Amino acid sequence: MVVVAQLARASDCGSECRRFETDLPPLKGCLSTSFFIPQTATKKKIQIPIFVNSKKIKMGKIIIAIDGHSSCGKSTMAKMLAEKLGYLYLDSGAMYRAVTLYALRNNLIDKGEIIYQKLIDQLYKIKIGFSKNPITRKNETYLNGENIEDEIRQLPVSNLVSSIATIPEVRNIMVKQQQLFGKDKGIVMDGRDIGTVVFPDAELKIFMTALPKIRAQRRYDELKAKGKGSCVSFEDILKNVKNRDKKDTNRKISPLKIAPGAIILDNSNLTRQEQLTWVVKKANKIIKKNAC
Ligand code: DC
Repeated sequence: MVVVAQLARASDCGSECRRFETDLPPLKGCLSTSFFIPQTATKKKIQIPIFVNSKKIKMGKIIIAIDGHSSCGKSTMAKMLAEKLGYLYLDSGAMYRAVTLYALRNNLIDKGEIIYQKLIDQLYKIKIGFSKNPITRKNETYLNGENIEDEIRQLPVSNLVSSIATIPEVRNIMVKQQQLFGKDKGIVMDGRDIGTVVFPDAELKIFMTALPKIRAQRRYDELKAKGKGSCVSFEDILKNVKNRDKKDTNRKISPLKIAPGAIILDNSNLTRQEQLTWVVKKANKIIKKNAC
């Protein structure tokens, strides 16, 4: 009954690298931690015994929460930002996608309907991990030890993930894990509820958005570049983007909204570099202020 999450640092592990005890062999240069979740997590309070040997929090380190619409480049921006600042990066959406893939593979979806109780009863079997690919230097997502990074980006998962993300029991577990990762600050996390629920006190909160058509085109180009453009049409992707916006913003639990104090970044007409420069400037200003 263990859910393990391992998170690779965005940059190589420096002397200030935080080390968490884990029941898996720790990966070199990684932050790793384990979460013990009772099978009856739905009814009982989730207990998370944490064994933390964290070193002194580096002066000035902050939490950067990035929320926003799907496919607007949050993850890309968050990764680049983390790399630039030497911070950890966590893609919270990948965690919900991993749960969705588990549900798909384990017959917990029947004719498009989630079999809620069965999924909740099996949450304890799901181990989500992150590890940095030594060749691409990108964080990749693991489900019970298997690299699922590609599969969780495909339409079967994308079409269902918003529904899985509305399940309170799933969210409770994910949020607790995410908060643990940010315990020592120095982290960039992207998602839908990072600035509102996971880290409402984050020093820097950003809300990213772009026009739906532009977001769909970006995702389509991405799939085409991976040789998967022929499997899906632009219209299908646009429909998926709009559907997810609707679900993410209208759901009862932790709906996507602009967190108090968040800065809005509409990147419809911005290059990645322009966005990065803009955000790094904001972050450095706060980090500098925090260090005083
Ligand atoms: O960022 P993404 O598209 O990979 O997210 C996948 C889904 O997970 C998306 O429909 C919204 C949901 N999600 C969420 O509810 N809360 C988060 N913190 C991150 C993602």
